[in-house]
Amino acid sequence: MQITPLSDHTGAEVRGLDLARPVPQEVQAALNAAFVAHSVLVIRDQALAPPQLLAAVELFGCVFAQHNTRFALPDCPQIHYLSNQDRFPDGRRYIPGEGWHTDHSNDTRPPKATVLHAVSLPSEGGDTQFANMAAAWAVLAPALQQRIAGLVAIHVYQSSHSARKLMALPEAGRERVPNAVLHPLVRIHPENGRPSIYINPIRIEGIVGLDHQEALPLLDELLRHATAERFQYRHRWRPGDLVMWDNRCLLHKANGDYDMEETRYLYRVMLQGEVPRA
Ligand code: SIN
Repeated sequence: MQITPLSDHTGAEVRGLDLARPVPQEVQAALNAAFVAHSVLVIRDQALAPPQLLAAVELFGCVFAQHNTRFALPDCPQIHYLSNQDRFPDGRRYIPGEGWHTDHSNDTRPPKATVLHAVSLPSEGGDTQFANMAAAWAVLAPALQQRIAGLVAIHVYQSSHSARKLMALPEAGRERVPNAVLHPLVRIHPENGRPSIYINPIRIEGIVGLDHQEALPLLDELLRHATAERFQYRHRWRPGDLVMWDNRCLLHKANGDYDMEETRYLYRVMLQGEVPRA
C-alpha cells in the first residue's frame, strides 16, 4: 500500500489496497493514522457492493444513522445514495451537497467521517471541494480567534438563513432528529488536538448571546476566510474512488456543474463521531 499526500494541508491518495479483501491490523492502523493526519483519504480502484462497503468503513469506526431516510438503499439502509436524478416536490432538480457545509452538525454527536464511493460519474465536472478549517483557524487574526473562541452556535436541520434548501425529512423517523443542538464555534479535534473553526451555513441558526445583526456577518466573515482557495483540496472523481473525509475539521461542497443528462450516483456512509468539545 502507498499513501501519498495530495496537498500540503489536506488529502492523501491510497493505492495498492483492495477493501473487498481482509485488511491486516497494521494496515488498518496506518489508514487510521493517515486519516487523522490528512483529513481526506482517496482510496483508488475499489469496486464494493453495499455490504462490502459497510464492512470496509467499519475498519474506521461505527456506522452513524443518517437523518434523511428517504435516501436509504432499500436492501442496505445504513448506506444512502447521492444522485443528481432526484427532484424536489415542485419539480426542481435536487443536487445533494451543494454549498459549503459539514455533515449532520445538527446531531448531538455529529458524524466524524463521511465516506462516498463512486458508482456512476459524469464525464467531466461534479468535483467535491474540501476546505480545511484547522488550517484556516491557525492563521485567523488573533483578535478574531479570541472573539470566537468561547462562542457557541445553535445548529438545526435547516437554517432559516441558508440559501440552500434541503429535502424535507419524511414523517417517519422525524422524532430521531434533534430540534436544535449547541456546538462550540471552535472545536478541538479529539484525535490530533488541533483547533478548527466549526461552522455550517446550512445548519447554524444563530450564536448564543449574539443577535442576528451581529451573528450573521460574523459567520459570513468566518466562512469567507475558511473557504479561501489556499485552504482547499478539490477532488476530481475517478471511477473506483472511495473518498473518506473528516467532518470535524473540514467543510465540503458538491458541484452541480456538469451535464445533467449524465448520472452522478454515489453511495454514502457516515461514521459515528463524538460530542464536539471546545
Ligand atoms: C455531500 O455533501 O455529502 C456530497 C458531496 C458530493 O456529492 O460531492
